[in-house]
Amino acid sequence: MSKIGIDIEKAKQILQNGGLVAIPTETVYGLAANALDKDAVLKIFEVKNRPHFDPLIIHTNSLEKAKLWVTEFPKWAEKLANAFWPGPLTILLPKRNIPDIVTSGLEQVALRIPNHRLTLDLLEALDFPLAAPSANPFGYVSPTKPVHVSAQLQDKVDYIMDGGDCEVGIESTIVGMEDGKLCVFRLGGLAIEDIEKVAGKVEIRLNQSSNPKAPGMLKNHYAPKKPLVIGDIASLLKEHSSKKIGVISFKTDFGQKQQQVLSKKGDLSEAAHNLFSAIRTLDDSDVELIVAERFPDDLLGRAINDRLERAAAK
Ligand code: TXA
Ligand code: MG
Repeated sequence: MSKIGIDIEKAKQILQNGGLVAIPTETVYGLAANALDKDAVLKIFEVKNRPHFDPLIIHTNSLEKAKLWVTEFPKWAEKLANAFWPGPLTILLPKRNIPDIVTSGLEQVALRIPNHRLTLDLLEALDFPLAAPSANPFGYVSPTKPVHVSAQLQDKVDYIMDGGDCEVGIESTIVGMEDGKLCVFRLGGLAIEDIEKVAGKVEIRLNQSSNPKAPGMLKNHYAPKKPLVIGDIASLLKEHSSKKIGVISFKTDFGQKQQQVLSKKGDLSEAAHNLFSAIRTLDDSDVELIVAERFPDDLLGRAINDRLERAAAK
């Protein structure tokens, strides 16, 4: 039987028996296990080669179910959940009945309801939530197509649910309450501007250190194998004229053999959708250096810049 498909019953059986299933979400593909089964969760860390201090997000398919895993679901969180779930928003809340391995021993759990029909149907069929990090080896770019998952993890997962291309293409935005303030801990697929329309001003607290509290924020977390530099593309092409260069641009055609224009019409959501796939394509090509331009610093441009900066950090 094929390892890739859309068989929800098969995925359910595997997960019930402690196996791993790659699941599509609107952001990126996840590597899922039964969040209440410590041994199954342990396999996620092993397969990804992920350090145990890096906690996992819990996925459910209803607010009611999400409430089972927290000691309280405060008003501010409910407001955000009602506005943006299912969707690319992860909320940090005080945990209840979730194994320590999932949260790396932290007091809070990260929760979200993803917006993908196949995965919502799977979650509906399960009587446990799914712990799922992005389905890539630790430190590499997140997968946004089934082929990205199979290329790197084919032998290590029991089944890959084929949900097509991820619509948003960039990981969820992570929010939580700190010092009485609503904070964004990871820029992602839900724009700050949209959150602020519902919740008022938010503070951006991205942890940049090398030993962060939220380790998804490690500086070089999205590193391709090839070196990547950010700046003015025309000058970078001149400066590195002796090298084979791959270009990542927002909307401009630089006439290069290896180039990825993320949105010809200049749409930041479309650019986010294409970003990780573009990085992978260039990383797998014969280029020696990837050069990317800085994106406008609003809407999803902020998350795109964040991922490019982390990819550039060595
Ligand atoms: O869009 C997404 O969020 C995707 C899909 C699959 O849902 N998941 C994802 O997971 O990006 P991952 O594991 O690659 O990144 C999750 C990050 C962690 O690295 C950490 O920074 C933060 O979420 N996180 C998870 N649990 C946390 C907790 N209890 N406290 C603080 N940060 C947490
Ligand atoms: Mg990840």
